[in-house]
Amino acid sequence: MKMETVDFYFFSGTGNTLLVVKKMQETFQENGIPVNLHKIEESNPEDVNLEHTIGLGFPIAELSTYNFVWKFIRALPVTDTATEVFMVDTLGGFSGGIVGPVHEIVKKKGYKPIGAKEIVMPPNIFYIQDEETCHEKVQKGLIKAEEYTLNLINDESKWGRVPVLSDALYYTSIASLKITESNLNQKLLRLETDNEECRRCGICVRLCPVDNITLEEGKPPEHGFNCEYCLRCTSLCPRGAIPCPCNYKGKTYRAVKAKEFLK
Ligand SMILES: Cc1cc2nc3c(=O)[nH]c(=O)nc-3n(C[C@H](O)[C@H](O)[C@H](O)COP(=O)(O)O)c2cc1C
Repeated sequence: MKMETVDFYFFSGTGNTLLVVKKMQETFQENGIPVNLHKIEESNPEDVNLEHTIGLGFPIAELSTYNFVWKFIRALPVTDTATEVFMVDTLGGFSGGIVGPVHEIVKKKGYKPIGAKEIVMPPNIFYIQDEETCHEKVQKGLIKAEEYTLNLINDESKWGRVPVLSDALYYTSIASLKITESNLNQKLLRLETDNEECRRCGICVRLCPVDNITLEEGKPPEHGFNCEYCLRCTSLCPRGAIPCPCNYKGKTYRAVKAKEFLK
């Protein structure tokens, strides 16, 4: 393979994907391949350099991924130079077969898909495990990330497609189950800041990847109706002032500190 430089586009809500992407960057670089990291939420797909190998990294959410991640992948430019592309997703346990539709999208655009990997990491929603279990899972996940990167470098990786789901079939079946998509659920599951706890620091505004939180002088933060439920704000608010959807007030999960994501 001709991998010379990797442009790695990724999104991470609470840090799992970031840790995997950074491990992959480290492994590529140890093997003489420079890697530029780009946050999907701050990137324009039109700026993608088709001379470089493209990496895509994102978490699984509701057997799919976040809408703005799909939007980015769908808006990748067409290539006539068989630009290499690989993907990695992180998940709590079951992804619903997202590698199939992503393969179909990039293939149709002329890319050469060279590898796809799904890496189990600690779940970051509802069923939050104890610190030791999370730590072990992260360590195992990072070993998988390193192995996968070496496979990519040595041309031994695959873009497996089991279960085989076409983009259209995926969208009319699995992805249509996304509960957060409807307007009604955006209202029912709307996140709210606990005004007693909140100190108006504005960190939630700077964390939100889709600018769904606003803060006006003298007022509590206002959550809009375009939440993607990545849980960055709930997990990284320094006061724990933003409960999860359904007002769930149990443990939250974070793999990194807020500064990694501040705009
Ligand atoms: C709203 C939401 C939905 C999720 N849905 C799934 C799912 O369908 N399957 C799964 O295995 N994990 C699911 N997860 C867990 C995450 O995919 C997993 O913890 C991931 O590693 C988080 O990555 P991040 O820390 O980079 O955001 C979900 C998490 C969230 C917040």
